[in-house]
Amino acid sequence: MAALGVGLLTLLPVCARRSPVLRPIHRLLSRPGTVAADVRREEQSSGSVETGSEDQTPKKRFSEVQKERREQAQRTVLIHCPSKISEKKFLKYLSQHGPIHNHFFYESFGLYAVVEFCQKESVASLQSVTRTPGLGTEAAIPFRSRCFSLKLRSPSGQPSEPARVPCNSQSPPSSKKLFELLCYAESIDDQLDTLLKASQLTEENTRLRYLTCSLIEDVAGAYFPDCAVRPFGSSVNSFGKLGCDLDMFLDLDEIGKFSAHKTSGNFLMEFQVKNVPSERIATQKILSVIGECLDQFGPGCVGVQKILNARCPLVRFSHQASGFQCDLTTNNRIALKSSELLYIYGALDSRVRALVFSVRCWARAHSLTSSIPGAWITNFSLTMMVIFFLQRRSPPILPTLDYLENLADAEDKCVIEGHNCTFIRDLNRIKPSENTETLELLLKEFFEYFGNFAFNKNSINIRQGREQNKPESSPLHIQNPFETSLNISKNVTQSQLQKFVDLARESAWILHQQDKDRPSPSGNQPWGLATLLLPSVTNSLSLAKKKRKKPASERIKNLLESIKSSGAEGPSDTNGKRTVSTQA
Ligand code: GTP
Ligand code: MG
Repeated sequence: MAALGVGLLTLLPVCARRSPVLRPIHRLLSRPGTVAADVRREEQSSGSVETGSEDQTPKKRFSEVQKERREQAQRTVLIHCPSKISEKKFLKYLSQHGPIHNHFFYESFGLYAVVEFCQKESVASLQSVTRTPGLGTEAAIPFRSRCFSLKLRSPSGQPSEPARVPCNSQSPPSSKKLFELLCYAESIDDQLDTLLKASQLTEENTRLRYLTCSLIEDVAGAYFPDCAVRPFGSSVNSFGKLGCDLDMFLDLDEIGKFSAHKTSGNFLMEFQVKNVPSERIATQKILSVIGECLDQFGPGCVGVQKILNARCPLVRFSHQASGFQCDLTTNNRIALKSSELLYIYGALDSRVRALVFSVRCWARAHSLTSSIPGAWITNFSLTMMVIFFLQRRSPPILPTLDYLENLADAEDKCVIEGHNCTFIRDLNRIKPSENTETLELLLKEFFEYFGNFAFNKNSINIRQGREQNKPESSPLHIQNPFETSLNISKNVTQSQLQKFVDLARESAWILHQQDKDRPSPSGNQPWGLATLLLPSVTNSLSLAKKKRKKPASERIKNLLESIKSSGAEGPSDTNGKRTVSTQA
């Protein structure tokens, strides 16, 4: 295997090379219920790079994580509970169906429990004793899912008032809490680390995401047995923040893959199927039916919208029980591959995720990104920019995609719809960087780099890790790593790009100023990263100027630019995200 042939590749923990970041905030604020206590809880959870202990354990491949999580989700049920319940009795009641491996409670339109059994059979056992409710005047559609409601037979018959069960939070900390945390941090490195820990997906939130996919898979499986619904995007690429959307991919390719092709003599058996004129029409028909099904029968699936004319058709809905905004696509394998690539980049060096989270948070704070569609930069594009910047450091912190492709062996080879998506999948075989720059320096340099980038002539390209001449005239050109003729930021207008550049310059300037005259962290004075999240001086000045001078024409110009770019041929993305919203 090529793995053995690549002599220079070693299993070396990246973080072991730098000194651990001090976490003084835990000493300052360690009372339960305080921000520090909340963050400590986050630290105990896995985050979303499933790399085992950062230092010794080999890092898992993306496909291994997906497989394990999917299997775990299939043994799990979601139960709506009475608001006050005895946890002990609840678990005892459920364990009649088999041993319970894990459970947690959370609140979302009521109290919910996520219960993971040790065996899948326990789920069937629980379903077999569960009844469909009689609803009086309304009629229930008898859909038997893994979402249950637990009722107390006689609420007043509870011996003593049960205590409230401990609930796991599924939301990011409020801006106020985050600010407090950042102000108390000891260094800018500590601030970036704190922001990451406070906002990354928790172990429980990750489990809930896989469970939600698994529940949707049950619905789709009624039509397409053996299909899989897989999460992709920031839910799994290690850059997800609590509250981000849940991107799902209905994978129909696995169907029939493993059925033994028994040929006997001259005979070969095939299913009779309906044919449609194109792959796109097949996708639209499938999503239309699944969308209808989710709308009619899917417990807790509300606000179902079928967005079938987007470049990559999708069904969007809210999953009430989990609180996730979901986008279901099919025939979107390249996006899954992008998620795997980002997962690898996120796991290669601990600075990557810290920097990406801070840049995303900074962009959100200044409305550079938005949850509604438009001319804004997306989180996906920002992540690409950070990766590119880290490839440009000396020595580089991240390898180029071409380098990762060179390390790939025969098993890693992957071509999707004619696009080369090959790269090494075993991240333990990628040599860590020799670069030891601090996060503080990197953040400052990121802003300086992009504050002075020649966007008018150059394109950002993580495949080669160097600027290239722009092949077309969009203000911002970020090459799609796999569909290399596409620009993932084609929607971004000149005025949005200018806003990004102005803010980047201002932020670099603020960090330089603070270098000279650093306030002592006192907890009540914004400094470092916290200052960068405050409303911008440049921004408010230019806003005031715009308001004074030509507000209407500026807005119309923006609108026209956005319409022009969204109506342009050859949209920038693989999955129609330009026409639909992107969570910030
Ligand atoms: P959030 O803002 O946290 O949701 O980040 P995200 O990475 O999940 O972004 P989003 O939900 O917009 O898109 C989900 C995934 O679709 C991304 O991670 C990419 O893999 C893919 N994607 C999104 N936008 C584009 C694009 O413009 N081009 C390409 N090629 N893929 C995209
Ligand atoms: Mg997303």
